[in-house]
Amino acid sequence: MRQRFLSFIIGLLAVGLIGAPALAQPNYAKVKEYRIERSVPPAAQACIECHRVTTPGVFTDWARSRHANANITCLDCHLIQPGDQDIAQDHEKYYGRSDLPWGEAKYKMPIASIVTPKDCSRCHPDEATQYSKSKHANTIEIMWKLDPWLNKGMNSDNERKTGCYNCHGTVIAMDDKGRIDPDTWPNAGVGRLNLDGSKGACTSCHTRHRFSVGEARKPEACDQCHLGPDHPQIEIYEESKHGTIYHAYQDEYNFDAAGGTWTPGVDYRAPTCAACHMSGSGKEPTSHDVTQRLSWETQAPLTVRPQDFKPFPSGTDWQDERQKMKNICSACHSNAWTNDFYNGFDKAVNEYNDIYFKPAKAKLDELYEKGLLDKTRFFDERLEVEYYELWHHEGRRARMGAMMMAPDYAWWHGFYECKLRFANYMEEANHLIETGRKAYVAEDFPNATGDTTRPVKIFGDK
Ligand code: HEC
Ligand code: HEC
Ligand code: HEC
Ligand code: HEC
Ligand code: HEC
Ligand code: HEC
Ligand code: HEC
Ligand code: HEC
Repeated sequence: MRQRFLSFIIGLLAVGLIGAPALAQPNYAKVKEYRIERSVPPAAQACIECHRVTTPGVFTDWARSRHANANITCLDCHLIQPGDQDIAQDHEKYYGRSDLPWGEAKYKMPIASIVTPKDCSRCHPDEATQYSKSKHANTIEIMWKLDPWLNKGMNSDNERKTGCYNCHGTVIAMDDKGRIDPDTWPNAGVGRLNLDGSKGACTSCHTRHRFSVGEARKPEACDQCHLGPDHPQIEIYEESKHGTIYHAYQDEYNFDAAGGTWTPGVDYRAPTCAACHMSGSGKEPTSHDVTQRLSWETQAPLTVRPQDFKPFPSGTDWQDERQKMKNICSACHSNAWTNDFYNGFDKAVNEYNDIYFKPAKAKLDELYEKGLLDKTRFFDERLEVEYYELWHHEGRRARMGAMMMAPDYAWWHGFYECKLRFANYMEEANHLIETGRKAYVAEDFPNATGDTTRPVKIFGDK
């Protein structure tokens, strides 16, 4: 029996060996082929064939996307739409280049450089509508309503271009030559105001041209903006148990499940940013409005409910939104666990408001009232900076650490530093009040040259 089995195996091996030389010289192409045998119009085929050579990176990303799979071509996104101003003027010349594939006048099409949420909304209307309501989409308006850096001109235009606007977005403009103003684009900030009036760049989470749902589900899609001393969400996440589990098990996570089917427990075992803030779970639908599911406004100086946030009231009810977030937790946690978390979070918010922020604000008002601090500019006196950092840096870290389960941020980077800042601030403020001495004003505050005109496209001429 054993003998017969062995000779059977040997026989199989022999057949395999005879077959081998044929396999050794397979008739395979060395480079991945892309054969267009579907109903793609010739003008769209031209884009693909020429760009495969001129910008292979763009071509390959697209070829590997769900879009390519579904026959969505370059033209579906880049074709000029009625009223579009951002026509790529120099592009026409490539159709006269016989050295380039498909470089013939008969394929010529006017194309737009910028692809906006409005362009995507032709096929993804729900995502675009939800997105347009979020604070992501409306952040330029919020920024100009609130921020002393802009309203008092305390930084330079280039500091804004290379800093603020890469995260928040630019107001895209045309220059006198009818070209896109290079100071305003390329840019992929979440609230970029497009020439067609739509807001945002879908590429801030789904980078072109993969436009992948899996990419947006990973914390890395958020961390380029949600980091640093004033909103360290990625650092907080990394420190939390959820982040620890993500790092230990991410190889087992199924990030590429179809949109709306990403399932807790099945596709991932601990949530990422998107899982808590955007993805659907159980009866909770997916949303592109990150303002949903929030019950506090922890980035504000005084923590308020999102509906009471004056520059941009959310139009939501905080209790409903909290319930939505709890529904997310409930896929993996018992109510006791979730409620205990919210208890600690609410207390942290209230303690921050009452013990640190309100007294510090009252002291600042007193100093202005007594003329000991000068109100015309901000940041040019040390106490203004101390006050700012108390709410904007450690005050946020304390609240945000408690909000997303990061003990080191809640305490060492948070309330611990609040105590130090508060004590120093009060000591200096009381000293001025007792002696009646005015604070030193830094007349040479550096590079406070930024334009303070509010963007007309958002605020009108006023
Ligand atoms: C015959 C070659 C050729 C064809 C056909 C072609 N392109 Fe291009 N395209 C180019 C080259 C070359 C560039 C410039 C790349 C660079 O700046 O180095 C370019 C640039 C672009 C840009 C960037 C333009 C900007 O101002 O930002 C876009 C978008 C674009 N092409 C889309 C398309 C689309 C959509 C089509 C089909 C309707 C198409 N191209 C057809 C050669 C071609
Ligand atoms: C799903 C929509 C979509 C499709 C399909 C699409 N693009 Fe784009 N493309 C974009 C977006 C979005 C940008 C980023 C521009 C912006 O910021 O608005 C872009 C940018 C570009 C750029 C400039 C990139 C750079 O870094 O300079 C080129 C070139 C380009 N596209 C060519 C193509 C070509 C060629 C195809 C087809 C193979 C294609 N696009 C298909 C949406 C699309
Ligand atoms: C002409 C229609 C069309 C346009 C325009 C379009 N899409 Fe799509 N998109 C589709 C289709 C169809 C699918 C589904 C493909 C599938 O299910 O296989 C898809 C899928 C997606 C997905 C899911 C990909 C995944 O990994 O599962 C994302 C994200 C996406 N699109 C983003 C965008 C963005 C951002 C834009 C604008 C820059 C855009 N789309 C423009 C038709 C379009
Ligand atoms: C690294 C990206 C990044 C940079 C650079 C940046 N911000 Fe922000 N900003 C954010 C994020 C993310 C938030 C949201 C914080 C939160 O909700 O926890 C935010 C919040 C804000 C808010 C509060 C909005 C609100 O709803 O209360 C204002 C105002 C603001 N930023 C203005 C600015 C200005 C002005 C600059 C430049 C001087 C700037 N930011 C630089 C990412 C950035
Ligand atoms: C803040 C990050 C972010 C931005 C910006 C963003 N998306 Fe998404 N998008 C996601 C996440 C996360 C998912 C995955 C939801 C899930 O788990 O099913 C997703 C999923 C999708 C899908 C798959 C179907 C679905 O709805 O689940 C489409 C299509 C899509 N996005 C289109 C867009 C369009 C169009 C825009 C611009 C208006 C956009 N996205 C902007 C994060 C983002
Ligand atoms: C376990 C779920 C969970 C995960 C994972 C998570 N968050 Fe949160 N996040 C929350 C909760 C809960 C709140 C507070 C909601 C409220 O206001 O009631 C919150 C609040 C926020 C806020 C609002 C801050 C403000 O302005 O009040 C931002 C911004 C944020 N998270 C970003 C992120 C980012 C970025 C990541 C990933 C690096 C992330 N979150 C991961 C649960 C989560
Ligand atoms: C390109 C930068 C950028 C990226 C990428 C980004 N965000 Fe944001 N996010 C911002 C800015 C700026 C704000 C502040 C908006 C405001 O309040 O004015 C913000 C605010 C938020 C808020 C608070 C909304 C509110 O109503 O207070 C949440 C929650 C949030 N982001 C979640 C996410 C998640 C989750 C991701 C990744 C899937 C992500 N963001 C990716 C820049 C970004
Ligand atoms: C996809 C499943 C999943 C979701 C959704 C989820 N968690 Fe968790 N969470 C876990 C796992 C797994 C752990 C680790 C438990 C352990 O320590 O064994 C954990 C741990 C925790 C911890 C303990 C932290 C620590 O340091 O020990 C808290 C608190 C927590 N989660 C709160 C929440 C809240 C609040 C939500 C909703 C906003 C939420 N979780 C959503 C899976 C999840």
